[in-house]
This record gives sequence, structure tokens and C-alpha cells, in this order.
Amino acid sequence: MAAQVIDGKAEAATLRGKIAQEVARLRDKITPGLAVVLVGQNPASEVYVKSKAKAVQEAGMRAFDHKLPETTSEKDLLALVAKLNADPAVNGILVQLPLPSQIDSQKVIAALDPAKDVDGFHPVNVGKLSSGLRALVPCTPLGCVMLAKTVHKSLAGMDAVVIGRSNIVGKPVAQLLLAENATVTIAHSKTKDLPATCRRADLLVAAIGKAEFVRKDWIKPGATVIDVGINRVPGEGGKSKIVGDVAADAKETAGALTPVPGGVGPMTIACLLLNTLRAACAQNNLEPPL
Ligand code: GUN
Repeated sequence: MAAQVIDGKAEAATLRGKIAQEVARLRDKITPGLAVVLVGQNPASEVYVKSKAKAVQEAGMRAFDHKLPETTSEKDLLALVAKLNADPAVNGILVQLPLPSQIDSQKVIAALDPAKDVDGFHPVNVGKLSSGLRALVPCTPLGCVMLAKTVHKSLAGMDAVVIGRSNIVGKPVAQLLLAENATVTIAHSKTKDLPATCRRADLLVAAIGKAEFVRKDWIKPGATVIDVGINRVPGEGGKSKIVGDVAADAKETAGALTPVPGGVGPMTIACLLLNTLRAACAQNNLEPPL
């Protein structure tokens, strides 16, 4: 039987609708604001940043765009972060990664006010997540867990395997799955027998960044597969196309899987809106509505 295709686009639209409703309800008290900072001209980053700002406005929030030249110094970026930290109209700050090589990303992340760190990358938020405290958590991992929970009411006791150990996806998604009481394995490039490790998974999260790396025979029959990959490869007629980290024929073994595009990607943006709303509420002593 072919796998259930998890409709990330529809899930994201539902979540965005709920967020817009809450933003409208809070209108007399606050208007959440998100500052999006882009340094340089990475084409993929430009696309992401544009769609983030558009989604923010569609939800009734304010977007503050800051586009800086590729040659921006670390000092100048840190000065902008300090200004945004101090601006009460800015509830969330997102500095798009990667940054040009003259800037130390970790230094910039550490300079963010943790209360405005809607990416959940600041060491304070990373520490809170791993200690099981309430924190702003990274958007893509949050979206992955929400999509898994559209298939499984509870993830408790599931064998979850995460491929990839990045700070943006692999490590935080593992923490969130652990918080959901899954039994979590983090696999990576040095894992001894990756296909066999993956075959143990009831829930497989692929966050490697290599086109169609996970083969259909690496998947336990009936498993749920969350594909975080966004890889541009040559398509038909000289055009390029976007594929995930999981081979297309994985739907022959998986029980449920997220498509690329239309799976995790739309959820990431919806979760960014959710984090911005949550950050704005926390900064104004309001209960988080969602
Ligand atoms: N680059 C790739 N993914 C992300 C993300 O989630 N947040 C930021 N700030 N940059 C990214």
C-alpha cells in the first residue's frame, strides 16, 4: 500500500489561520513584530527571507526587513542586533544563516536577546530546551514534530532516528522528540551502519542535506518519514527542481511521509509566526494563546 502523504501545506495553512485569529484578537493590546536580517545575496536565503516577511504580514504582524551588504562587518551587524534588542516594536529577531565568512555566527546568535530569539538558537534557549524548560524552540524541528503528531497522537515509546546533527535541525529535533518520550538515536556521517540504524526507526527524520540520500530499503515498512531536505537538482528541460533527502520511491515502504516541496518547508514558516506570537505575548506578560 502506498504511504500516506502528510500535507504540510494544509497543516501550515491551518496553523497560520489560528495565529492570524489570535493576532487579530490581541490587536488592542499588541501587534507582534519580527525583524528579519539578511546579510549578502545568497539566492536561497533571499527567497526564504522574502517568504518569511510576506507570511508575517499576512498574519497581521509587522515585518521589519534589514538587508545588509555582503561586506558588512561583524561590528556593524552586532550594532544592528543591539538596536533591535532595544526596540520595543520588535518582538522577534531572525538573522538568516549562513552569514558571510568575516562574521562569527555564534557571536551574533549570542548577542540576541534570548526573549526575541525566534529561531531558538541562543545558548539560553538551547539549554532550556535540553533541560525541559519552556523556551523558544527552532522552527523546523517544531514543524517536524507537529507533522509527526498528525499521524501519531503520541510519540511516546517510538523508536525515532534522526539523521543529521546540526544545531538548526538535528540536535533540536532530537531534543523535542525526547521531550515527547520517544527513544531517540542521532545518526550522522560517522554512524557505522546507517541503513541498519534507519531500519530500526518507527519515526525517521532525515536532515542531511543530500538529495535522495535515504533509500527505500532503509525504511522499516510502515514507518513515518519526515524529510527535512531542500535540495536543488537538475530537472527536465534544463530546469532545476527541488527534492528531499529521501528517495521518491520511499513511499513504497513508508507508512506516512512528508513530501518535498509541501511538507516541512511550509511548517517552518508557520512555526516562525508561532514563535513570534509567543515571544510578543511573553514580553507583554500575556499568556501564550497557542
Ligand atoms: N538558514 C537555514 N535555516 C534557517 C533557519 O531556520 N533560521 C535561520 N535564521 N537561518 C536559517
